[in-house]
Amino acid sequence: MKSLLILISGRGSNVEAIIRACQTEQWPARIATVISNRADAAGLEIARRAGLRTEVLDHRAFPDRAAFDAALAEKIDAHAPDLVVLAGFLRVLTDGFVEHYAGRLINIHPSLLPAFPGLRTHRQALEAGVKVHGATVHFVTPTLDHGPIIAQAAVPVLPGDTEESLAARVLEQEHKIFPQALRWFLEDRLEVDGHLVRLRPEGAQAARAGKAVNA
Ligand code: GRF
Repeated sequence: MKSLLILISGRGSNVEAIIRACQTEQWPARIATVISNRADAAGLEIARRAGLRTEVLDHRAFPDRAAFDAALAEKIDAHAPDLVVLAGFLRVLTDGFVEHYAGRLINIHPSLLPAFPGLRTHRQALEAGVKVHGATVHFVTPTLDHGPIIAQAAVPVLPGDTEESLAARVLEQEHKIFPQALRWFLEDRLEVDGHLVRLRPEGAQAARAGKAVNA
């Protein structure tokens, strides 16, 4: 059975959606642990209540970004996960860290990338006057908010929207596409070709694996 490991920093509504989907849909995977860089992250309590292991690694205890990332990688690698998930992990990661997990590091970003990378995406969308906004699940590469796109969901921007109302509409979609995208990965259905991610039809990968074993 595959394993995934989730990194968080705060509220934890996405970790909650992932845990629920993993447990109720009986994914072919288990969540090894949830790691937060903040001891007070509400998502830790959500994970604990779901019976998961949790760990804290406070970035403030390290002299620089590289030292924190090295310690984090050591913690992660102790679990040898197949997939590392950034679910609201509010840290810019070093290139070395990202490259170490190339192809198995997935993030959710609250905008329709490549529009509005970085922070305050809902404000950016309102200021730009776009009529459609959304969320993106993507593989992480060293360029921030730029990796191959696995899934996106769009929502309308409505007259009178505030950052909060728009964020809530986007978040509802995040909770759908994030678990879905992770499940595809764990079922071996994602094929990455340069910047393009293709979704193999259901069952196709099992057939391929079968052939490889028999070859
Ligand atoms: C989400 O909006 C996600 O897209 C972004 O950080 C936020 C995390 O929210 N990367 P939560 O902690 O999962 O509720």
